[in-house]
Amino acid sequence: MLHFKTRKGVKTILILFFSLSFYFSAFAQQPSWVEEAPGVWKTIIGHPDAFDLLTASQALPKLEGLKMLSADKFPLDSSLIVGEIINGQTHLRFPLEREEQLFGFGLNFKTVHQRGNILRLHVDHYGGRDNGRTHAPVPFYVSSLGYGVFVNAARYIDVYAGTGSRRDSPNAPEPRDRNTDDNWSARPYSDAVEMVIPTEGVEVYVFEGLTPLDAVRRYNLFTGGGPLPPRWGLGFSQRVPRLFSAEEVMEEVAEFEKRGFPLDVVGLEPGWQSKSYPNTFVWDPGRFSDPEGFIAALRDKGIRVNLWVNPYISPDSPLYEKLFPYTATHTVWAGIVPDFTISEARDTFWGFFEEEHVAKGVSGYKVDEVDGYDQWLWPDVAKFPSGISAEQMRQTYGLLVQKQSAAVFHRQNQRTFGLVRASNGGGTSFPYVLYNDYYDHQDFITALINSGYAGVLWTPEARASKNAEEWLRRIQTVVFSPMAMINAWASGTKPWSFAEVEEEVKAMAMLRMQMMPYWYSEFAKYHFEGTPPFRGMNLEAGFSFDNQKLTMSDSEADLETNPYAMAVKKEIKDQYMAGEHLLVAPMFEGEEERKVVLPEGKWYDFYSGELMGDGEEIIVRPGLSQIPVFVKDGGIIPMTTPSLHATGAGEKYDLIIRHYGKKEGSYRLYDDDGETFDYENGDYSWREIKVLLGDDGQYQGTVSEPQPGKPDNLGKITWEFMGR
Ligand code: GAL
Repeated sequence: MLHFKTRKGVKTILILFFSLSFYFSAFAQQPSWVEEAPGVWKTIIGHPDAFDLLTASQALPKLEGLKMLSADKFPLDSSLIVGEIINGQTHLRFPLEREEQLFGFGLNFKTVHQRGNILRLHVDHYGGRDNGRTHAPVPFYVSSLGYGVFVNAARYIDVYAGTGSRRDSPNAPEPRDRNTDDNWSARPYSDAVEMVIPTEGVEVYVFEGLTPLDAVRRYNLFTGGGPLPPRWGLGFSQRVPRLFSAEEVMEEVAEFEKRGFPLDVVGLEPGWQSKSYPNTFVWDPGRFSDPEGFIAALRDKGIRVNLWVNPYISPDSPLYEKLFPYTATHTVWAGIVPDFTISEARDTFWGFFEEEHVAKGVSGYKVDEVDGYDQWLWPDVAKFPSGISAEQMRQTYGLLVQKQSAAVFHRQNQRTFGLVRASNGGGTSFPYVLYNDYYDHQDFITALINSGYAGVLWTPEARASKNAEEWLRRIQTVVFSPMAMINAWASGTKPWSFAEVEEEVKAMAMLRMQMMPYWYSEFAKYHFEGTPPFRGMNLEAGFSFDNQKLTMSDSEADLETNPYAMAVKKEIKDQYMAGEHLLVAPMFEGEEERKVVLPEGKWYDFYSGELMGDGEEIIVRPGLSQIPVFVKDGGIIPMTTPSLHATGAGEKYDLIIRHYGKKEGSYRLYDDDGETFDYENGDYSWREIKVLLGDDGQYQGTVSEPQPGKPDNLGKITWEFMGR
């Protein structure tokens, strides 16, 4: 502590000394970079917090995958990267070139292009504005020039993604006279991404990538690779009304069977417990008198049970007293809040879940409300017994619950695929999908795109709809997403609730099941190679930035209402890539047609195999029953026969292999038991599917032989050469 109770002269000298030393300590430090893993560079600025995103997630790099990506050299001019500690905070600066675009900064819902945005990255329930408060505010961005930057801090980080111009910049904007110069801009050129991290140091990573997709892959692999869901996790999920009893669930399941709708997971909402908000984590004896019998009866039908929880503990829970010493100063809905960084808290809490739920057959959790709303979550003045600050806990609580619950399933050698409402950097490998209470269909698609830049998965869950058309349109998009789910906790909606479109909804749900070999292989590529299964067009080769010309609408340019309007690059935020070969362009309620931007190369209609275009904008009018989907030239889509449940371990399935277009093609099909972690010991296989054009002008398909001793679940194989 400084005390200025000195004589006047000494005081002046002291002030001078401290301001000078401040001035020098604030001098730009150019961090030095060390290659931590192939193509992954790290630096440490100042004295970072001991507890950060990677400590919370304990992500382990997938070195095998990283080695397979081509690495070259540090991808930026390191002399332009600056880190400074100023007033106990870290200031960071990364360069930006004129034509560069930025993607990422977490799960945003309205914008894909992040250049020009100002964000405070803060875990929260999304509130309708892309201001950094979101379920997964991942401090990772990727540049169109093919590199990525990750700030490993569990702090509320302020980001100026190319706003602000420095006086000493070699690229400082020219002053222009607004009175006379038409080129005057309300937002002059900025040549940097700048950030403030409210702590005295930080660890930063730079990811190489010859393409933006490679940079994303590297980040994903460095943080563990994507999760490999069980096959059943990619089937159809129905979350039932919150107060449903075992009998009501069984009736609903019978209705699914009777009507011929697929179903792999039933999600129970808060009412499975004797008390919720705060929770007992104990089955309600009235609604579920025989939980084990109930779970077994469903399992006999090929259906798994997922339990809703939030981690806030009721005084009536058997966990309350044991956990009490390890909880925060503040409660949530009068429930105590475990400090999951303390091993006693972690072991007691999840040990109970393991014994009472998972060992008795529960297959997954929906861990709700770990994101917060400031109004009911612990405030930033709360204290946790570990000494970890409330801010750090807020930024990592989602990571901690995912990590620790996933470990329970790992111990049982059972894969899981659940839901969670918060995540953050480092959470890539966790078998959880994000969701929320916001319900804008178009914004849900933008979130799906942004999830692919953030190492998270997102479901545009269908809950309710005002009419049959909206219902069908929403179902179509959940079918082309990481989790095909109806969340009827409040609405009670069933897939067949809108009788006019019952058959169309069923056809979509069946399509999901038929595409299982494709979805499963694409998730394996996320796991082993880091390629996000759902991702934006900007990561696609042949996608031209010319498609995103500078535009300024008349209303934006209106001096009266918006005197600082800026020309913006039109972004593509309503179409996306699903797996290696598919482009999905969802329809929204009220639309009869839509524009689709096709990257270079020929693209074919998924349903008919018809040629649709090549590097151009097209208009499609698909009718109500179809969601527009396009396949790359030479694209191979491995499918299977329609079924009501995903294939279980040891079961064979038939393969129906579709080939599109004129080019020869190849595809790597992944296989394993679909349920356990035995793949970690090498019990998996990749089969090479090839389509070659013979001298006779006929296409010939082959599938490589199974490797001895490796899983082989393939039954009969048939080929469909689409459009011919
Ligand atoms: C919400 C959650 C909903 C539902 C509900 C149950 O917070 O987002 O999907 O689970 O809680 O109370």
